[in-house]
Amino acid sequence: MLIVGLRYTTQVIVLSETGDTMKNTNKLKLQSNTTKVDVWDILVRIFHWSLVLFFTIAYLTEDDWLDIHTIAGYTVFLLLIFRLIWGVIGTKYAKFRNFLPQPKRAIQYLKDEISGDAKQYLGHNPAGAIMVYLLIIVLFLTTLSGMAIISTEGFGPLAGTFVSQWSGKTLEDIHELLTSLILFLVFLHIAGVVFSSFMQEENLVKAMITGKKQTENKGEK
Ligand code: HEM
Ligand code: HEM
Repeated sequence: MLIVGLRYTTQVIVLSETGDTMKNTNKLKLQSNTTKVDVWDILVRIFHWSLVLFFTIAYLTEDDWLDIHTIAGYTVFLLLIFRLIWGVIGTKYAKFRNFLPQPKRAIQYLKDEISGDAKQYLGHNPAGAIMVYLLIIVLFLTTLSGMAIISTEGFGPLAGTFVSQWSGKTLEDIHELLTSLILFLVFLHIAGVVFSSFMQEENLVKAMITGKKQTENKGEK
């Protein structure tokens, strides 16, 4: 009995030592091969988190605080204008030409991601890129439809234009519909970020805060 017990103990110790050694070796390998790369510049990060803030304020104030709602809505509009300009003249990963919408590649990327074969992208991945375009376009339309509502009462930059002739009720319905659509997209966007972070073992939210992404080789994708 004693001999069996000792053998068992020895085996366990040996096994766990091997396990530890393997783990440590792997860790060392990982650390020596990874590099931190600056991906999201400071303006993209300020843009993103300001957008989240003012979108949330606009969303929460639409009922009782219409003045605050309108100011937050205009701020979202101005942020989007900035992003359009920055997408043309900005830093490498902020430029639209670095993440053009490619639906076929986006679908392939999603399939690869589900099967765990997706490669890492330093900028937006092909699926994320399409989501970014959808978010920007629908947000733009949301803010424009808001401006169209107040134009029917003679206020805002669209007052006196052809939209101010439209029925206020129709414009309100359009504004509400676009808001529901954007909410759905935001939900998908956050789910996509969480899913990608999980599958790629990389904290994308942290990357949008620090601007840095971890990559296993120095090649840029
Ligand atoms: C707390 C909730 C949110 C989190 C955690 C989050 C996280 C992120 C992350 C990690 C990225 C970068 C994705 C990548 O690596 O490709 C991103 C990009 C983006 N997100 Fe969000 N997001 C949130 C809410 C929102 C909301 C509410 C909006 C719009 C209303 C939004 C619009 C965008 C846009 C437009 C981009 C592209 C950024 C750029 O290239 O300038 N996000 N978000
Ligand atoms: C991201 C930006 C925006 C979001 C998320 C948003 C969201 C909403 C929502 C959810 C409603 C309530 C719809 C309903 O239940 O009838 C609303 C109403 C309204 N919004 Fe916006 N909005 C935005 C931008 C704007 C802008 C830029 C303006 C004006 C310049 C504006 C003007 C209005 C007005 C006047 C109403 C009241 C309509 C009514 O009386 O029913 N919104 N908005």
